[in-house]
Amino acid sequence: MTTAAFRAATAEETRALGARLAALLAPGDLVVLSGPLGAGKTTLVQGIAEGLKVRGPITSPTFVIARVHPSLSGGPALVHADAYRLGGTLEVDDLDLEESLAESVTVVEWGEGLVEGLSEGRLEIHIERGAEGEDRRVRVTGVGPRWSELSLA
Ligand SMILES: Nc1ncnc2c1ncn2[C@@H]1O[C@H](COP(=O)(O)OP(=O)(O)O)[C@@H](O)[C@H]1O
Ligand SMILES: [Mg+2]
Repeated sequence: MTTAAFRAATAEETRALGARLAALLAPGDLVVLSGPLGAGKTTLVQGIAEGLKVRGPITSPTFVIARVHPSLSGGPALVHADAYRLGGTLEVDDLDLEESLAESVTVVEWGEGLVEGLSEGRLEIHIERGAEGEDRRVRVTGVGPRWSELSLA
């Protein structure tokens, strides 16, 4: 297990962090985002999308629970899902994330405890508000063999 902590003072810094993280991501990767409403999960995904060079825009899914953002550069698509409204693993199964997992980068907001079974490893990212204003703390943890050797620093 490998873990790293970051601070992001503004939404722009959170996007920049997402773009840097995107450089580590490859087809088959699963990213599980946690943290309270308004923490910045979707904002981080916007940065990941920028870094992956996929078609936007990345928004908070309201009625659509999973969106596929195709690559604009011949790389993997970004599958962005929000499990906030889902009741449990059975409903997550309905999203068919498994279908696209191998050839995409899959990022799931509120996926903690729901989507871990999709892959033998994952990048867990927890975001929470810092002490003041717009400050956010971002903790990134790699779980599984894929991330064991990787330096997140
Ligand atoms: N440092 C920061 N990182 C991320 N978002 C921030 C930050 N500071 C302010 N914000 C604002 O907080 C909100 C985060 O919303 P969003 O990314 O949708 O959160 P979530 O998906 O976790 O519910 C946005 O309006 C964003 O502009
Ligand atoms: Mg969100």
